Amino acid sequence: MPDLVLTPSRGLRGELTPPGDKSISHRAVMFSAIAEGDTKISGFLNGEDTQNTAKAVQMLGIGVDGLGTPELVVHGKGLFGLSEPARVLDLGNSGTGMRLMAGLLAGQDFFSVLSGDQYLRKRPMARIVEPLRMMGAAIDGRAGGSLAPLSIRGGRGIRAIDYAAPVASAQVKSALLLAGLYADGITSVSEPSKSRDHTERLFRFFGLDVREEGTRVSVAGGQRLRSQGLLEIPSDISSAAFFLVAASIVPGSDLLVKNVGVNPTRTGVIDILVSMGADISLENRREQAGEPVADIRVRHRKLSAVRISGDVIPRAIDELPVLCVAAACAEGTTIIKDAAELRVKESDRIKTTAAELRKLGVSVLERPDGMEITGRETLAGAACESHGDHRIAMSIAVAGLAARGETTVRDAGWIETSFPGFERMLRQAAY
Ligand code: S3P
Repeated sequence: MPDLVLTPSRGLRGELTPPGDKSISHRAVMFSAIAEGDTKISGFLNGEDTQNTAKAVQMLGIGVDGLGTPELVVHGKGLFGLSEPARVLDLGNSGTGMRLMAGLLAGQDFFSVLSGDQYLRKRPMARIVEPLRMMGAAIDGRAGGSLAPLSIRGGRGIRAIDYAAPVASAQVKSALLLAGLYADGITSVSEPSKSRDHTERLFRFFGLDVREEGTRVSVAGGQRLRSQGLLEIPSDISSAAFFLVAASIVPGSDLLVKNVGVNPTRTGVIDILVSMGADISLENRREQAGEPVADIRVRHRKLSAVRISGDVIPRAIDELPVLCVAAACAEGTTIIKDAAELRVKESDRIKTTAAELRKLGVSVLERPDGMEITGRETLAGAACESHGDHRIAMSIAVAGLAARGETTVRDAGWIETSFPGFERMLRQAAY
């Protein structure tokens, strides 16, 4: 895989539109498959993760045109239109792909097997396998069903449950709500704090009745999804986040990041940067497919350390590595707590972020559920690793723009999982 080499930037300027939202892209192609009628999806993320989900949908007997482009047409066959796949469904690097697909397949009266790459096969699956078994699905896997590959035989006899999830996880919530569409009665999921609600919004977009009370979400089984013709996906705030941090920390920056999804369950990164003193404003607010969207203007401003903990953590979970880069350039010591979930992402992001920031000369203390990061006046360019994690690779690239000398990200090809064209977009914006 290629290396990425960065040199100091004199500012990020102009306008850019990051690619489509990853979470919504996975859901859009899956939900369109079980909707009645054709759905044209625009702004589909053309990354490896979401393409693997679209291919899995094809292997379940659903026509998907336009694969490899941001415009798909999914020929939905309704709730009971999927058919048994002839081969193992390979979800690559994606936890969202695997966990949501497991929920969908728990509702199908056929046999299927889900697998993924070496990283995904190490990630915890018991969090979905246990409640899906409670619903009556026959699921097995390595280590008693806690690691992929997973085999699933679902369908008849799926029972509704009222489940209190021990961690705030949109993947767990979505898997159970998807299985719940095939159950008799009402399936409810509650969680310790609110995770991203794209499934709820998209279910409503397809005409389903979804109930919410606090962090408890419920759907009744047997409801039919109806195509709405066009489903427009906004740009991913998790991809925009690299540019929000880069422009905040590199003097001379003034950047407009366009068409970004600003769902309140995802905007923790903006709230945290603003609390650090960042100069960020939202313009041209609008709505697309039930999701709030805006253009985000960001200008350089000196940042100060903050404490990041509690309910904001699930609202910024994927952005914490790049927020650590912001902390590394801020005045004072930033404390991150309540973020133990970072340890079970594409890499152990507490360990990998700390290891790479130290190479850049930053003082980092690792805690079981977070980190303490003391900012420096300037970072020192260094040779860094991606650890097979797209967000670690992009976070280091951002740090490289603000570092003295040259910074290398080894094994940067992982960026393709979520952000094709990242390097080109960064080089266009950074002078
Ligand atoms: C996602 C949920 C989050 C997030 C992941 C995408 C989703 O994971 O980290 O990148 O699309 O539902 P968890 O559900 O494990 O918190």
